[in-house]
Amino acid sequence: MIIGSRLIFRENLPSTNTYIGQLLRDEKPPEGTIVHTNYQSAGRGQSGNRWESEDGKNLLISILIFPSMIKPVNQFIISMAISLGICDFLNRQIPGCTIKWPNDIYVNNDKIAGILIENSIMGENIEYSIAGIGLNVNQDSFVGSAPNPVSMKLLTGINFDLAICLSQLASDLDKRYKQVISESFDLIRNEYFSKLYRRNEWFNYRDQEGIFSGRVISVTEVGRLQIEKKSGLSEDYSFKEIEFIL
Ligand code: BTN
Repeated sequence: MIIGSRLIFRENLPSTNTYIGQLLRDEKPPEGTIVHTNYQSAGRGQSGNRWESEDGKNLLISILIFPSMIKPVNQFIISMAISLGICDFLNRQIPGCTIKWPNDIYVNNDKIAGILIENSIMGENIEYSIAGIGLNVNQDSFVGSAPNPVSMKLLTGINFDLAICLSQLASDLDKRYKQVISESFDLIRNEYFSKLYRRNEWFNYRDQEGIFSGRVISVTEVGRLQIEKKSGLSEDYSFKEIEFIL
């Protein structure tokens, strides 16, 4: 087992991603180190947003990997593999989980997990990658500004054991990371596409020209979202350039 080879628990932290960054400056933690906590006072989300999570209710983890086999141009493979590992774990409890590009984990139209991947690039290589995961497990109500959060408990009525969830999730992520190590990139890409939220169906999106009807057809090698428009033409978007109208 690589992912989960070492577990570090802290009762509370500003952010597990930031903490792994500090560990990297002080020592060289082994690949697969997981830091987890019950509470983050400054949990970080995508686009500089905060990640809110009630004390002791959810999984708040960061994983350190050294994906030296991935060229920086292909770094989206890491996002895909982490997203798939979370879906593998969730699908055993809750069927029908999808990945809202680039890496939000959804059940129906609600977000159950978020991922924040921070890669350090050194020349032609990824020196290290910190994959932060916030998975809503036992939280009953959400008061923050996130538009559509949901938890495993809200969907199933079950109060889950966080330690068991962590160990199963680590094992699912480990299997996916081994696919990265063995360079099974086509398999990862195909499975990621098959789980894409709103794939091949017409929905509304907003780009810099306004709201339009489009359908997600693919994700490019460098991780841009490809959307076909009613005109028949398709366009590629980076994260900040396109908004899903929910
Ligand atoms: C998102 O905005 O969807 C990404 C959220 C990522 C949150 C997790 S919680 C554990 C790790 N530590 C952080 O500060 N953020 C990530």
